[in-house]
Amino acid sequence: MIESKINSVLQGRSLLAEKDFKPEEIQYFVDFGLHLKAMKKRGIPHRYLEGKNIALLFEKTSTRTRSAFTTATIDLGAHPEYLGANDIQLGKKESVEDTAIVLGSMFDGIEFRGFKQSTVEGLAKYSGVPVWNGLTDEWHPTQMIADFMTVKENFGRLKGLTLTFVGDGRNNMANSLLVTGSMLGVNVHIVAPKALHPKQEIIDIAKKFTEQSGSQIMITDDIKKGVLHSNVIYTDVWVSMGESNWEERVKLLTPYQVNMDMMKLTGTSDKELIFMHCLPAFHDTNTDYGENIKEKYGISEMEVTDEVFRSQYARQWDEAENRMHSIKAIMAATLGNLFIPDLPDMEG
Ligand code: CP
Ligand code: NVA
Repeated sequence: MIESKINSVLQGRSLLAEKDFKPEEIQYFVDFGLHLKAMKKRGIPHRYLEGKNIALLFEKTSTRTRSAFTTATIDLGAHPEYLGANDIQLGKKESVEDTAIVLGSMFDGIEFRGFKQSTVEGLAKYSGVPVWNGLTDEWHPTQMIADFMTVKENFGRLKGLTLTFVGDGRNNMANSLLVTGSMLGVNVHIVAPKALHPKQEIIDIAKKFTEQSGSQIMITDDIKKGVLHSNVIYTDVWVSMGESNWEERVKLLTPYQVNMDMMKLTGTSDKELIFMHCLPAFHDTNTDYGENIKEKYGISEMEVTDEVFRSQYARQWDEAENRMHSIKAIMAATLGNLFIPDLPDMEG
């Protein structure tokens, strides 16, 4: 059932980082995303942004986020305009403030993907329209809504489940999963070498939310202990966009590769265990990077083996599809005029 009370509270808000929202608001995005997915599958129109214009700013490359924002915008009845790093003056010839004022006078909403969190914050501060963070070095909040939709679709619930992120525990995905899981009552384990453990300030934010939700967090370099009883094994690339320290990461993270032995170490039954990855993934050598790393370091799979990636546990494709439904929920709830029809017999 979609709670309409929350709608008015969300109107006009920007999604810059999960921590700025109440847990029940994040939960609402997840449930509304599932509802919109069901509406799309049934062919029920949901043009909540009819006639609006949406700017899509990308400093970094993207397949899923760009495609999801584009298709979601069109399904919602609005017009998307892609503004890539080399297309506009931002950063090189024009400040964030000046750019934001101009974009805010023409567009009704702005998506931003890039490096600094301060840029997306500046866009929100000066544009006067809702701004959605499509990934920065610090956070990936729109990904979180898709991810917890995927978890809920699989298990029918969130509270009490255990999600374990294995890999670079200091990157945007680790930060977002730690905080968002803690908000939603999901136990989050971060399994990473000590050098890549999350910053204390991120752990503190997560801890505060666990006090309300009752979930637990664990930060460890001990693989056996960290993955035990997990329901979700989650990983991400070892080197994020904007970084280039491959040698260091290959050395540090090779023992943390997600493989079938690690899936077995969870001790969880097959029915209660899934694998997730935000993508893109290095699970073979069919990419330039993959080929290069094989030549240099002799490994043909990085953060996840091809076997796990293609196994019964794998949910990364559902997760990728859910990017579109979740981004619709975020845009519609913060910018749209909502009348949400009930869908008898087909919740979620
Ligand atoms: N998961 C994700 O953000 O994918 P893209 O980098 O392709 O947008
Ligand atoms: N940590 C990755 C996530 C990609 C969706 C990166 O920032 O490149």
